Amino acid sequence: MSQKVKKAVFPVGGLGTRFLPATKAMPKEMLPIIDKPIIQYAVDEALEAGIEEFIFVTGRGKATIEDYFDYPFELIQTLKNRNKKDLIKEIRDGLLKPGQIAYTRQQVPQGLGHAVWSARSMVGNEPFAVILCDDLIDAEVGCLKQLIDVYDQKGGNVVASEIVPEEQVSRYGILEGKRLSPTLMKVAGMVEKPNLAEAPSRMAITGRYILEPEIFSVLEEQEPGAGNEIQLTDALVTMLSGHDCHAVVYDGTRYDCGSKRGFVAATLAFALKHPDVGPAMPEIIERICKS
Ligand code: G1P
Repeated sequence: MSQKVKKAVFPVGGLGTRFLPATKAMPKEMLPIIDKPIIQYAVDEALEAGIEEFIFVTGRGKATIEDYFDYPFELIQTLKNRNKKDLIKEIRDGLLKPGQIAYTRQQVPQGLGHAVWSARSMVGNEPFAVILCDDLIDAEVGCLKQLIDVYDQKGGNVVASEIVPEEQVSRYGILEGKRLSPTLMKVAGMVEKPNLAEAPSRMAITGRYILEPEIFSVLEEQEPGAGNEIQLTDALVTMLSGHDCHAVVYDGTRYDCGSKRGFVAATLAFALKHPDVGPAMPEIIERICKS
């Protein structure tokens, strides 16, 4: 039986250049979708999947993320003085326990593979999850839980995947392999950010992974690949010779919150479902579209 996946790594060192100037003084992961920062959606998904330890690989200018997950003593006191019990409960319920969160810094941005490798001593010798917060996935059963269910049966490495339009294949890791069922593929190869002509399929890796700890020794030796960065996809290819890799075609809707378009789409989708603003949204959208 596979070991339980208890740790998740969140690479959050990226600069967020697509959201400048907002990200000059604020990490992109702290941009809110309605009333929760993007990073909170990722943490909630991990909690739902049974993750117990949260490892953030940060970088310069990301200190707000640590503050956000801290106990906001002054705020709680002020809310107590104002007798705002519901808000206090909401804030307390959302807090992780002391010792459940760890931070390490990726001192130089050298790619996703390098960010994951930076977490090696905190992860140790056990399988772990990787969550890329930019991919906000709205799903009835969280995407990470769907991956862990497959990992529990199959072991090896597991990646989330979906079909993307032809014009987008060059933005993703692209998979080739054999479909075992409509929702599962045994991966035989993958290539990071290929040209359309070289892409083996339109099945893209999306931002959720379950990885075996052997990935760290592979990443240690990994030469830079696409974009001259250490690519996680390349390390997964190396591991194919000794470890199975499965791709889960997950059930859910993904919003690429690393792009303005995806961010706005996520905002609209979550606004429509939000108990405070949801009921008013159709009329607001209609009015804006007509004007
Ligand atoms: C990363 C991975 C890529 C994957 C993508 C999913 O790329 O390298 O394989 O398809 O995330 O969002 P990035 O978006 O960091 O360029």
